[in-house]
Amino acid sequence: MCGIVGYIGDKNCVPIIIEGLKRLEYRGYDSAGIGIINGKECKVIKTKGKVSELEKLVYKEKLESNLGIGHTRWATHGEPSTVNAHPHLNKDKTLFLIHNGIIENYLSLKKGLLKEGYEFLSETDTEVLAHLIDHYLKLKHSLFQAVRYALNEVEGTYGIAVIYKGEPDKIIAARKGSPLVLGIGDNENFVASDVNALIAHTKKVVYLEDGEIAEVYKDKFETKTVADETIIKEIHQVDMKIDELSKGGFAHYMLKEIMDQPESIYNSMRGRLVYDEGVPKLGGLQGFEERIINSRRIILAACGTSWHAALVGEYMIEQFAGKAVEVEYASEMRYRNPIIDKDDTVIFISQSGETADTLAAMKEAKKKGALCIGICNVVGSTIARESDAGVYIHAGPEIGVASTKAFTSQIVVLALITLLLARKRNLSLPEGQDIIKHMKKLTEKVDSILKQNDYIKSIAEKYVNSKNFLYLGRGYNFPVALEGALKLKEISYIHAEGYPAAEMKHGPIALIDDNMPVVFIATKDSVYDKVISNIQEVRARKGRILAIVNEGDDQIETMVDHVIKVPKTHNMLTPILTVVPLQLLAYHIAVMKGLNVDQPRNLAKSVTVE
Ligand code: M6R
Repeated sequence: MCGIVGYIGDKNCVPIIIEGLKRLEYRGYDSAGIGIINGKECKVIKTKGKVSELEKLVYKEKLESNLGIGHTRWATHGEPSTVNAHPHLNKDKTLFLIHNGIIENYLSLKKGLLKEGYEFLSETDTEVLAHLIDHYLKLKHSLFQAVRYALNEVEGTYGIAVIYKGEPDKIIAARKGSPLVLGIGDNENFVASDVNALIAHTKKVVYLEDGEIAEVYKDKFETKTVADETIIKEIHQVDMKIDELSKGGFAHYMLKEIMDQPESIYNSMRGRLVYDEGVPKLGGLQGFEERIINSRRIILAACGTSWHAALVGEYMIEQFAGKAVEVEYASEMRYRNPIIDKDDTVIFISQSGETADTLAAMKEAKKKGALCIGICNVVGSTIARESDAGVYIHAGPEIGVASTKAFTSQIVVLALITLLLARKRNLSLPEGQDIIKHMKKLTEKVDSILKQNDYIKSIAEKYVNSKNFLYLGRGYNFPVALEGALKLKEISYIHAEGYPAAEMKHGPIALIDDNMPVVFIATKDSVYDKVISNIQEVRARKGRILAIVNEGDDQIETMVDHVIKVPKTHNMLTPILTVVPLQLLAYHIAVMKGLNVDQPRNLAKSVTVE
C-alpha cells in the first residue's frame, strides 16, 4: 500500500528519499513521486510504474535539496497514472502533499473548493487536501495551523507529509488511521510510513498516534493533537538491522523468507519455553492469564493468511485448552455489530499490525469491553501498541507480499498461548513437556523440508501449465489447504481453491477431471483413513494428485502422481511443516511463469485502507 518518506537535514534528500521508497516497494504500489523545495526551486517529479523509473527521471534532472518528500501510491481514487501520483500541489505549486489513506468526504470538500475557484488536475481524494491547506494559508495561517485546520474538516484516514516554500525549514506530518513514524537523526529528521524506510539512517523513532500532528525541523520536532493540545512524545529505539531487509543472496525476498523459517520459528519461541514446568513464558500476557482463562470464549480475528493461522489456533485451543473459540474475518466483524462483551477475549492476529480491517475490529471489541490481545510481527505497529496485551512473533521483517514465515511463526505463538491456557486447565505436565519437546525439534524438521527444494521445483515444473488447482485437507491441515491455495493464487495468478477434504463430495468433485490437479495434505492423524477415501474418489475421476504425506508413508505414494514427504510432529504443530512445501510449490510455479513474486499485481503488503 502507499508509502511515505520525508527528509529534512543537511544532506541531499534525493538519494535518501529514493532509497527509502525502494525499501517501501514491498508494500505494493503502482506509481511514485518526489517533491523537493530549496531556496531556488520547488520541483515535483512523478511517474506511473516503478521507483526505478522515478530514479532515472530524478537523476536526469539532477535534483538536489535538503528538504523533500517522496511517495509510492497504490491507487484507490483514480487510475494509476502520473497525474494521480503524489505529491499533489496547491495552485501556485509552492505546497506539496503526500497522503496515505482515504479522504471520505472529499467530494463535498471539493465542491466548496471549486466554488472558491480551485482547479483540480487529478481524480484523487488527496488533491482536495492540498487545496484545502492552501485555502487556510491564504487566510494567513502558518503552515502548521493551515494543515491542522484542514485536517479538522477531513473525514476518513490519513498519514500525510507536507512541505511548503513559504516555510522551508519544516515538514508537517500527521496521522489518523494510517501509520506514520518520525525518525530522529543528528541534525536531520525523517518522516516515514514504515520504519523500514529510515532504518539505514537512524534507529530512534517516534510513533505518531491517531489525531496527532508534528512539526518536524532538522534539529527538533514538536507535536500536538489536531485539536491543538500539546503532547510530549517518547523516542523509541528500534531493534532492527539493515541486513534483515536485504535478499541475502536469494533471488527473491519470498524465497529468502521461506528459507529463513528454521530461524524465524526458533526466534518465535526463543526464551519462551520452560520445559521443567511444561509451560511457556509469555511476558506480554503477564497479569492477563486469569482473565483469558476465565473469559466466556476466545475470538480470533484476522485477515488473509493471518486468518488461516487463526483457524489453526481455533483447533489448538479447543482441543487442548478446552475453551470455546470463534474465528472471525476482521473485515466482517467490524461492521456486523458482533455480540462481544467484557467476558470475551479477542485475539487479533496481524503480521503488519496495521491492517485497517483488523485495527477497526479491535477498536470495536475494545469499545465493547473485551480484552484485546495482539499477535503481531512488526514491533511498535498500531495493533501491537493499541491492544491491552500481546505477543510478538519475532519472525523478522517480512518483505515479500505473500506471507510465509509470519504464518509459521503465528502458529508457533498460538501454540504457546494454547499451552499456557491448557496447562492452567487440564493438560498434564508430561503432556505439556511433550508439546515443548516437539516444538524444539521444529527447526531441524523445517530445515529437512527445505532441503527438498530442488525436488519440489521439479514437481512444480509438472504443474506449471495448470489453470486451476484444488487443495484439500482435514483437521489441522484444512487451514493449510486454504493457505496453500492462497499462496498459489496470489503469486502465480492460477485459480486455486482450498476446501476441507470431506466437503469435496458436496460440490467441488464436479470439477475433477484429468486437467484438475488436486493437492492433498494427508499426514498420519485421526482422519488419515478418511482422507485416503477422498484421494480414491479423485483418482476414480482421473484427477492429478500431489500429496503431502509423512515420512515413512508408503501407502499414499502408490495411489497418487507425486508425493512430498514431511517429518512427523505433534498433531497440533503439523501445519508448521505441511505448509512449507506448499509455499515452495507456489514460489517455483510463479517464478517459472516469469511473474513478480515479491510484488504480485494488485496486492499490497499491509492493507491500510478498507
Ligand atoms: O498484516 P496482516 O497479517 O494483518 O495482513 C493480513 C493479510 O492482508 C495478509 O495475510 C495477506 O493475505 C497476504 N498477502 C497473504 O500472503
